[in-house]
Amino acid sequence: MLPLLLLLLLLPMRSLPLRLLPLHLPASQLPTRHLPSRLYSSSGAQWRGVVKAVDNGKHKHTYAYPSSALSGLPFPPPYSASSPPFFVLGVETSCDDTCAAVLLSDGTVLSEAKASQTDLHEGYGGVVPNLAKGAHEAAIGPVIARALADAGVAAAELGAVAATVGPGLEICLRVGARAARGIAAEHGLPFAAVHHLEAHILMSRLPPAAEVTFPFLALLVSGGHCQLLRCGGLGRCEVVGGTLDDSLGEAYDKVARMLGLPVGGGGGPAVEELALEGDHRNVKLPVPMQQRKDCDFSFAGLKNAFRMANGRARELRGVGEGEELPRLDRADLAASFQWSAVRHLEQRVGRAMGRCEEEGAGIDRLVVVGGVAANAAVRGALERLCGERGWQFSAPEPRLCTDNGVMAAWAGIEKLRAGVSDDAGADEVFARYPFARPREEGPL
Ligand code: KG4
Ligand code: ZN
Repeated sequence: MLPLLLLLLLLPMRSLPLRLLPLHLPASQLPTRHLPSRLYSSSGAQWRGVVKAVDNGKHKHTYAYPSSALSGLPFPPPYSASSPPFFVLGVETSCDDTCAAVLLSDGTVLSEAKASQTDLHEGYGGVVPNLAKGAHEAAIGPVIARALADAGVAAAELGAVAATVGPGLEICLRVGARAARGIAAEHGLPFAAVHHLEAHILMSRLPPAAEVTFPFLALLVSGGHCQLLRCGGLGRCEVVGGTLDDSLGEAYDKVARMLGLPVGGGGGPAVEELALEGDHRNVKLPVPMQQRKDCDFSFAGLKNAFRMANGRARELRGVGEGEELPRLDRADLAASFQWSAVRHLEQRVGRAMGRCEEEGAGIDRLVVVGGVAANAAVRGALERLCGERGWQFSAPEPRLCTDNGVMAAWAGIEKLRAGVSDDAGADEVFARYPFARPREEGPL
């Protein structure tokens, strides 16, 4: 009797049609009212439910491209370089930005639209999932409509749709993925389910940048991830180093907060700007993990050393609660943090390059991607390192390093070019989404 009841209950749910999100939700629907107040500390100052999702590459990963079209509409006809160009809509809502873009299948970017949630999470100490979801719901329709309008393309004229389906905040991913799948289903278009990390990596291959061919070594440095990967092809990456604790983007954001800099949309750019005015030699901070001769990363110790140095400087200057250190002191602190972090990256990446050379892996290109790859000090140091070792260096243009709609569209195009598409009728998204395999022979 009970199973029958359950079946009766489930049947109508399963037969619900896939619903396209309404194109215009009033901004007043931002769900502040849904905030569970018990998550506030008694002082109300600190949000305890904020997101911390560092994937340290220690999971058993199995993500791989199937050899042919998946359960969805196969891409007709098999894509080739001579196929006539078609329009692709890309949608990305894995964290706190609602992004869409329209690309031509040759990689030409026709339009980009983004609704940033910068102000919404300011003061919470991180991204608040419920708030982010509500803001995505309010913005997704207008953002997609703007991307299409700016490209001068109607939804019916699209050739394919792509959207990030993981990893990220599940309730946020779902908003973008549903909207994109809805458009694909409505117009009978091939749909490409995009992996956020792979999309960051594939941005290094977006034309007109010099064609980056596999295999290469990729350093992925973002707010949620810090990994070194050996990439042999689409869906074929293996982790050769990961962070033991925080990501570098997270450390930048914490440092920005401690220095009283704006953190909305990520504190990295503000720290980078302030560091330009400072001298790292005026504050001594350690380069992490000098004892461990591997390719892993750690930023928690550096972050703590920074906290202590900041505290000492404040004490020395007699700076009281709620007051700020003089700008030059803060600039020296920012410069020192960045200097140590960049040396850490250089050491680990240099070691991984050396091991690739020793193994005769046939890899002579480093690709640096993710939000932190927008940082000129990071790019400059790694480009120099490549120059010294006779490696080639690639990074997407800084604007396209942080999350955006172009990366979803371009990763979708790469997938379709490989003859793979996904089911637009599915509704799954993946908070944790297996991506690269751990190295079979163990860490480098
Ligand atoms: O890739 P992304 O947009 O989101 C994730 O996938 O996590 O990366 C965001 C992170 C933030 O932590 C932000 O502070 C950092 O990238 N970031 C930077 C810079 N621009 C963004 N960090 C250092 N310097 C920058 N210029
Ligand atoms: Zn990202």
